[in-house]
Amino acid sequence: MRILVTGGAGFIGSHLIDRLMHENHEVLCLDNFFTGRKHNIQHWVGAPNFELIRHDVTDPVRLEVDQIYHLACPASPVHYQYNPVKTIKTNVVGTLHLLGLAKRVKARILLASTSEVYGDPEVHPQAEDYRGSVNTIGPRSCYDEGKRVAETLCFDYHRQNNVDIRVARIFNTYGPRMLENDGRVVSNFIVQALKGDAITVYGDGSQTRSFCYVSDLVDGLMRLMNGDCIGPVNLGNPEEYTVLQLAQKIQSMVNPGAQIQFKALPQDDPRRRQPDITLAKQALKWHPTIPLEAGLETTIQDFRSRVEGAIPAPSIPYVEV
Ligand SMILES: NC(=O)c1ccc[n+]([C@@H]2O[C@H](COP(=O)([O-])OP(=O)(O)OC[C@H]3O[C@@H](n4cnc5c(N)ncnc54)[C@H](O)[C@@H]3O)[C@@H](O)[C@H]2O)c1
Repeated sequence: MRILVTGGAGFIGSHLIDRLMHENHEVLCLDNFFTGRKHNIQHWVGAPNFELIRHDVTDPVRLEVDQIYHLACPASPVHYQYNPVKTIKTNVVGTLHLLGLAKRVKARILLASTSEVYGDPEVHPQAEDYRGSVNTIGPRSCYDEGKRVAETLCFDYHRQNNVDIRVARIFNTYGPRMLENDGRVVSNFIVQALKGDAITVYGDGSQTRSFCYVSDLVDGLMRLMNGDCIGPVNLGNPEEYTVLQLAQKIQSMVNPGAQIQFKALPQDDPRRRQPDITLAKQALKWHPTIPLEAGLETTIQDFRSRVEGAIPAPSIPYVEV
């Protein structure tokens, strides 16, 4: 099949491309390289069934494809809050363009939505029918409200134009190739521990998160794309850890001498986030298989090679609104 991956040079997109290339598909990677890196997909450049397209999804695109994995959007608060107007434009205008393309060429399109559509949830764990508790005007709104509109667009194109959609609600995912400067707990803690800095925990660390290893997530995305369930489907690891437990685990695995330091909790930081994956288990026959410790092991190895200077971290480029 001819498969387009928007955001293909990013963390999840590049792992997805690895899987698709191993399955001998023709793969088109489209990215504006805001948070993506050529290094993530460099090993495929030159392969006859791989094409790299520098493009911004806020501009229309014309291609002939069978499937579209629409992942283009910065995923971590530091990056999506860097230029919030651009973030919401990417989610709304970008998704409109990709849905327009899917409609034109009759491709199936999968939207990478997020657990952030649940906002700061009042129910635990969150199932797909929970409608969320989201702040429309907060600093995270460009991302979470943006993704909510992106989901709405998908379902309207589906109902109105018969576009073949799939919607995945992705929960915290981690693994090799996460950006070291993305400000998320796993990357933050590993980099701090590797550098011998204090591990910073926001609040008292009792807020919980669930962490899904990237290969599990990619498997879930591919099952969703190639199955009959259109979603939205939660994809994440339901095993819940407090942020302090994660800090202590990474401290013991990387640098038992590192200090743990507590700082003020940022605005709109959710207290708890845990997926209910009953639907994914039933409809996709999917569940995560990689235990946290095993996933952290390979993630730490990857960060170690980068922190030790093998691959420089990119600086955040200026992105026009
Ligand atoms: N990583 C997670 O834990 C997580 C959780 C929930 C949802 N998601 C979603 O999954 C997708 C991928 O996330 P990720 O963690 O790989 O993030 P990432 O930042 O590593 O990847 C996003 C990619 O999209 C590209 N991009 C951003 N804006 C673009 C634009 N306007 N035009 C073209 N390309 C653009 C970036 O350069 C990057 O390569 C995102 O849509 C994100 O919202 C991720």
